[in-house]
Amino acid sequence: MAFEVRAARWSTDHDAIRAVRETVFVVEQSVDPELEWDGLDEQCHHAVVQLSDGRIVGTGRLWCNGDEGKIGRMAVLREYRGQGMGLAILEFLLETARRIGMRRARLNAQTHALDFYERAGFVAGGPEFDEAGIPHRQMRREL
Ligand code: COA
Repeated sequence: MAFEVRAARWSTDHDAIRAVRETVFVVEQSVDPELEWDGLDEQCHHAVVQLSDGRIVGTGRLWCNGDEGKIGRMAVLREYRGQGMGLAILEFLLETARRIGMRRARLNAQTHALDFYERAGFVAGGPEFDEAGIPHRQMRREL
């Protein structure tokens, strides 16, 4: 399926981004909405996957802290998974982080997705921990 990954602004794309995250995190993964909507989105760089008909079916965000970028809220609607969209979002956010001068990237990976992030060069460290009721591990990579 033809798609593009593009930068998104929270101010103009928030309805579409919220719809994807609501479906994937709040409904599919039962994340508490108060944790999902943590108030950081306005400060983040966002990326979305857009189909040729305009529909937005995936998203992710980058939050900058000093020279470290934190990637999070990576989500692709279930019916579009396994087509390279998730990896394309991740690469886009890593490129964004490099462009704005970040030296390292980190993220909290749901343990089922460790392999996915390892494919993009992330390395897990530290023990497993609970976030939003889901087991996670920290992952990092140099940029
Ligand atoms: N576990 C292990 N491997 C995975 C994986 C997972 N959860 N998701 C994808 N992969 C693998 C794919 O098999 C693919 O490998 P291949 O190239 O050999 O086929 C590779 O990683 C790239 O996958 P891709 O198609 O780009 O990923 P996607 O579009 O399916 O999106 C997620 C990946 C994680 C964003 C998507 O599964 C999702 O939205 N999951 C629910 C929300 C979630 O868990 N987000 C992550 C929070 S840390």
